[in-house]
Formats: sequence, C-alpha cells, structure tokens
Amino acid sequence: MSDNMTSTIKIEKAANSKINKVDFNNLAFGHVFTDHMFECDFINGEWVNPQVVPYQPLTLDPSAKVFHYGQAVFEGMKAYRDDEDKIWLFRPEDNLNRINISSKRLAIPEFPKDIFFEGLTQLLKLDEAWIKKGYGNSLYIRPVVFATESGVSASPSNRYKFLIICSPAQSYYGGEVRVKIENHYSRSADGGFGYAKAAGNYAGQFYPTKLAQDEGYQQVIWTDASTHKYLEEAGTMNVFFRINDTLYTAPTGERILDGITRKSIIAMAEELSIPVDVRPVRVEEVIEAANNGTLKEIFGAGTAAVINPIVGFGYKDQKWELPKLENPYSSTIKKAITDIQYNKAKDPYGWRYEVK
Ligand code: COI
Repeated sequence: MSDNMTSTIKIEKAANSKINKVDFNNLAFGHVFTDHMFECDFINGEWVNPQVVPYQPLTLDPSAKVFHYGQAVFEGMKAYRDDEDKIWLFRPEDNLNRINISSKRLAIPEFPKDIFFEGLTQLLKLDEAWIKKGYGNSLYIRPVVFATESGVSASPSNRYKFLIICSPAQSYYGGEVRVKIENHYSRSADGGFGYAKAAGNYAGQFYPTKLAQDEGYQQVIWTDASTHKYLEEAGTMNVFFRINDTLYTAPTGERILDGITRKSIIAMAEELSIPVDVRPVRVEEVIEAANNGTLKEIFGAGTAAVINPIVGFGYKDQKWELPKLENPYSSTIKKAITDIQYNKAKDPYGWRYEVK
C-alpha cells in the first residue's frame, strides 16, 4: 500500500461507540455491527470516494438495479486477535480475488487491490476494539458490491457501491447440524454461477432449506442439478466426507464455490498425513458407507462456520446418525487451521496477514 493511497481514504469517525452495549459472550451470528464501515462508489467508469464512515443506513433509489435484478456479490472473511494483541487476517488476497471472479460473472467491475487493502486496514484499525481475544472469537468481515444505478431496464448497472461491514462473531451454528441430501431442488448448474458468491445463489437456497428445516434438518446437502447423484455443497459450506480414513470432497468448478477454508483443509490434511481424494462423491457410496459403518465423519467448511461437524443426514425417507469419534479429523484439522489464524502456530503457507 502506498502512502499516497492512505491519504486518499477519507475517514469520518463515529461520534459515539456502541461497543459497551454489546454482550460479547452471547453473540448471535451477524446481528451486531461495529461502529464504522468502508464504502467506495463506481461512477463514470472508475472507483471513487473511498472512505471509512460511521456505520449507517444507505439511501438508494427504489429502482436501483440491485433490488430488481440481484446484481450483487459478497465475501466472508475474518480478523483475529492474538495473545500479543496483534490483528490478523486469513488469506485476504484470496477473498479479493474471489470477489472479483464473482463480480466478473455478474458483469460488475473489478475492485482494485490497493483500495481494498487500504480501506480494510483503516476500517479494522478504527474498530480494533471489537476484535476480542480467545479461540472462537473473531470479527466477521463482509465485503459486498451491488448495483446502484436507478432504472428498471434489465442491463448491467453503470453505478455500484462497494461496502465493507464488520460483525463480531463466535460460532455460526448454535447446535448439532443434521442435513438433508436434496434430490429435487438445485443450487447451481453447469454454465451457471454456483462458483460465485452471488447474493441470488443464497436466496435460491432459502426455500428448499426451509422445507428441510420443517423436516427437522438444519441444512441441505446440494446434489448436481442434472442427475442428483453427486454431493456438492452443504448449505453455505463446502462439504467433506470421511470414509474409512480418507477424506473425500467434490472438485470445484462452475457449480461449486472455491472455498478458502476448503482449500486450507486440503492443504492441512496433507500436512497431517490425512489422505484426501478430491473427486466427485456419489450419494450412493456415502449411503453404502453409512450402512456398512465405514462412514466416519461428514463436515462442512466455510469462513463463517470454519469446520462444522454434521452429526446426521437424511435421504428420501431414511435417516442416518454418524458415530461419535474421540479424535475426529474435523477437530484435528480445525485446531491446526485455527492455530495459524490466531498466530499460535508457524504459518509455512504464508496464509496469515497482519493488519498494521
Ligand atoms: C461464509 O462462510 O463466509 C459465508 O459466506 C456464508 C454466509 C452465508 C454466512
């Protein structure tokens, strides 16, 4: 980041902080937001007016294209505080790259790296007190970009807003997670935008997930749209299956998000000598493994949830519960990754990024 860039980010501090009103020991995910936010506008073909301002509502024209055509993409990142009060991000450049990959698919202009890092740094410095020490505590960071041009013609907007808002976080799921293997609804298709963190990808999941919740599940495992024979993602996470002692997960591509936690798990499993096989995973083989006792674990992986064990699953009218293991891979790998995130272990991969 150049000094030149620092001087181009305007900063307006909040008159009062809300922090004393927050119970940091009882945080529901994504409900409380910090005192400031970063914003930047795309006008006349360029990103202009990057600034950190008090967290506040926005004013948009009712015809703004984001409301009508869902031209919006987002990211999920986290900041961590270590024992020496240093603040760290985890693989932030991957998030920037991915939001730009998502943007491209939705005809949104890419966001510049220097403004992203400088804006995020200034924001985190102002709201640093919101990042609490201790395993499980983090600041969830939500960059989002959306179409702000007014007018309901169905064409890409020529104006956008890029925002970064932050929310102190503990765990994403409160209790045990059971999932339903979906065999009718689909999350994504070949040639679609399942790989993008597009707002509409998530909206499309809400109704089938609600149906699964009515049946007693917390989430859905999505299967491929054309045959429903292959397992793809679990709710808002990538998904891993442990059969015997090998971990299986689907390859990413057009339909599956290239999860940063997912690829960190694959690298970490290799480091821990846990065999990983990245290949299409059949519904049938997972059911067969559950029936013959070789299915040991299923877990989801994402920034918000990190690694979340799945304790049971259902398919059509049948339900299975997974064994309770003493040392599951999910715990071993989660510990190894969070040790890097909280600066408690060496980081041979260069995943950690200090905010200073
Ligand atoms: C994340 O894990 O960061 C996500 O984007 C999932 C989100 C819908 C909470």
